[in-house]
Amino acid sequence: MSDDSWDDWADGWDDDPVARSYSRAAYASLLADLGRRGIELAGARVLDFGCGTGLLTEQLVDEAASVHAVDLSPRMLAVLDGKRDSLGWANVYSSLTVPSGGEVWDLIVCSSVCSFLDDYPAVARELASRLDAGGLFIQWDWEATPGDAEPHGLTRDDVRDALAGAGLTDVEVRTAFSVVEGEQRMEPLMGSGVRS
Ligand SMILES: C[S@@+](CC[C@H](N)C(=O)[O-])C[C@H]1O[C@@H](n2cnc3c(N)ncnc32)[C@H](O)[C@@H]1O
Repeated sequence: MSDDSWDDWADGWDDDPVARSYSRAAYASLLADLGRRGIELAGARVLDFGCGTGLLTEQLVDEAASVHAVDLSPRMLAVLDGKRDSLGWANVYSSLTVPSGGEVWDLIVCSSVCSFLDDYPAVARELASRLDAGGLFIQWDWEATPGDAEPHGLTRDDVRDALAGAGLTDVEVRTAFSVVEGEQRMEPLMGSGVRS
């Protein structure tokens, strides 16, 4: 997928039941991971990297202190900004790239974006370096099956290696959820790790 083609998906993204079910299930699996690790969402400073139209942001906004939503697609961000303005999300900020100031986050979420990055391990390193001590990095991606004619997604080893290589500790990689929506069964990987 080329960088600018995500713009073409922006208008219909929120009407896609698959995208909505995926993000609801991702949020539930995030809460479960936070609970297992004893990390609070309440009051957290969150970076939603590859936020799209904000399907995950909209579930985080009430509990988090702030959500900074980043996406390279201006049209995806325009949909998110429209929801922020109409719903009065005063604690949501958005930008096309990760802010280059000294901001740090308590939680970085990457929902269905890492497998599309040109250099996923490098981006994981960069993002992990922007976590505050004790902060959590968490991602969801389709699981690639080694040997597939057209590999799609990431393998468990890809995720484990990238997160460990980013200096994260307590790295866990598991099936995030199993949800059926229409004809599609969704069983993506979830990878997470903590900045010590
Ligand atoms: C499959 S969509 C997921 C959107 C959203 N996270 C969701 O779950 O609904 C992938 C998103 O990642 C964004 N993306 C891809 N490469 C990116 C990059 N290098 N930096 C920021 N966003 C990126 C795309 O523009 C797109 O909105």
